[in-house]
Amino acid sequence: METRSGEARIHFEVHGQGPPVVLVHGYPLSGRLWDGVVRELEAEYRLIVPDLRGMGRSEATAAASMDDYAADLVAVLAAADEERPVVLVGMSMGGYVALAFCRRYPERVRGLVLVDSRAGADSVEAAEGRNRTAEKVLREGSAAVAEEMVGKLFAPGAPADLTARWQSWMAETPPEGIAAALRAMASRPDSEPLLRALGRPVAVIVGAEDQITPVEGARAMAQAAGGSLEIIPGAGHMAAAEKPVIVAGALRRFLHDLDEAP
Ligand code: MLT
Repeated sequence: METRSGEARIHFEVHGQGPPVVLVHGYPLSGRLWDGVVRELEAEYRLIVPDLRGMGRSEATAAASMDDYAADLVAVLAAADEERPVVLVGMSMGGYVALAFCRRYPERVRGLVLVDSRAGADSVEAAEGRNRTAEKVLREGSAAVAEEMVGKLFAPGAPADLTARWQSWMAETPPEGIAAALRAMASRPDSEPLLRALGRPVAVIVGAEDQITPVEGARAMAQAAGGSLEIIPGAGHMAAAEKPVIVAGALRRFLHDLDEAP
């Protein structure tokens, strides 16, 4: 399905019936990240799966902010006729977008799950590095970023066909989409205070071998949010694609607890 949000055409999918859950992928990925998780949960939940602007099948814009990506989710919810408060599940950059959504539209949030993500802002050095990469990708294309990223995304034992598939999908991402995402991540605010004061159930899920957002940070984030922590054995940063059944099991426990809460 498609909708418009500002200047961008946004692609999204809706699967299943039940309480609404929005699955937001990371950088420079697409809604396909969640395919295995969707298969596990669609019998019980209404899963809304966008491609963030400039990634997957959604149109790129020259610039974007975390607030723009969050506004895109609002447009997707409207197009999906979904007015109920949602559980937001954000993987990595998808977590940054979910936190921006929580900041701007708190009344629309029922719970938050951060998967292989973090709440803090970039250091000055990290932000400068991202801005340099954005210039490079616009100059040289997406393949170099895809090649560099793929080595960090997966646990060492991940199947070669899975990593090869993602490398080729990342290489197909338009350079404008990658550059806009890098710049948006570089300028995102610190969401740690927001997370501590969220006042909604929170869960944190992390691959045991995640090199980009490691377990120690995830543990601290879960503690700060007063939420649960699930560590996925044998998975890296792409836990949702590497171990979808285990990730879906962790999500199901959180969602069932929410459904049973008074
Ligand atoms: C992601 O997976 O979305 C990115 O690695 C996040 C980041 O670079 O901070």
